[in-house]
Amino acid sequence: METINLESIFEAKLAKNEMIEPKDWMPDNYRKHLIRQISQHAHSEIVGMLPEGNWITRAPSLRSKIVLLAKVQDEGGHGLYLYTAAESLGTSRDEMLDALHTGKAKYSSIFNYPTLTWADVAAIGWLVDGAAIMNQVMLQRSSYGPYSRAMIRICKEESFHQRQGYEAMTTMAFGSAEQKQMAQDALNRFWFPTLMMFGPPDSESPNSDNAVKWKIKRETNDELRQRFVNQTMPQIEYLGLQIPTNSNIKWNEERQQYDFSEPNWAEFKNVIHGNGPCNKERLKARNEAHKNGEWVREAATAYAKHQNEKNIAA
Ligand code: 3HC
Repeated sequence: METINLESIFEAKLAKNEMIEPKDWMPDNYRKHLIRQISQHAHSEIVGMLPEGNWITRAPSLRSKIVLLAKVQDEGGHGLYLYTAAESLGTSRDEMLDALHTGKAKYSSIFNYPTLTWADVAAIGWLVDGAAIMNQVMLQRSSYGPYSRAMIRICKEESFHQRQGYEAMTTMAFGSAEQKQMAQDALNRFWFPTLMMFGPPDSESPNSDNAVKWKIKRETNDELRQRFVNQTMPQIEYLGLQIPTNSNIKWNEERQQYDFSEPNWAEFKNVIHGNGPCNKERLKARNEAHKNGEWVREAATAYAKHQNEKNIAA
């Protein structure tokens, strides 16, 4: 009887678009769904530091180096906000990181592709951060309070990241013939992997129905993918780049939207199951970083313990 009441309070809050907070009763499946999505999102942020971090020492100017450094640090911060939001649901940082480091947890497919040139770093900022924002704007109104609040700050920073990428892409697209070719190659490499970021088609997305019902996601994978293509096409045209071969993007007058080819979903499945071009390299780098940071965690824990003891004694 008690559970029925609690459930109706939960449902009523969702219906009124009120936030669910950590101390509120929530269905187990809602809690599990959030832990899955938020922890995967956190993992994506910190794994996402690797392909770009790889270019900090090779940035083409002092200015671009400072900007990239700031961006990569921001991603680390996003990971922290998100791990903290997930912890408020009753999981621990150790459990989440263990799942990442042993390959049990997923993180965004996009970070399993290599960054071969500086233009790839530009394309990541422009396309990948652009796609991330397209998805994350709706998450600012996600029904779980700590997630929603974390997303407000993250979105502000992601907008700066997108500008960084678009600026770098503009410099290359309007630069020498060789630079323009590098920009084109990066667009060709990143177009389909970026479309995969939104997740599988709605008809094959097992989590979407609950996510929309519980107002965790406000829009579906296909809706967001379509909006991303609509928004990005004019930018490709402005940059004077060619739409990637076999993407078949065409304006559809009747739908008032672009038609476009779907990514290769078999490739997507392969990547999210650990067999993309860089999955093994990324996990190895994460495991090493975690091991190398052990002394920092120990020192921080010892300091906190010492402060606590001092406070109790005082
Ligand atoms: N990469 C890896 N796994 C993916 C994926 C992707 N691009 N898209 C979907 N999947 C996985 C799902 O996690 C799910 O696996 P699971 O059931 O084992 O957890 C499975 O594929 C089926 O997908 P669904 O559509 O049913 O899953 P969701 O409803 O969770 O939708 C999502 C996937 C759109 C990624 C959603 O989880 C989401 O909106 N997450 C929050 C945003 C996020 O994580 N963004 C990461 C982008 S990178 C980033 O933000 C860093 C920035 O700096 C660029």
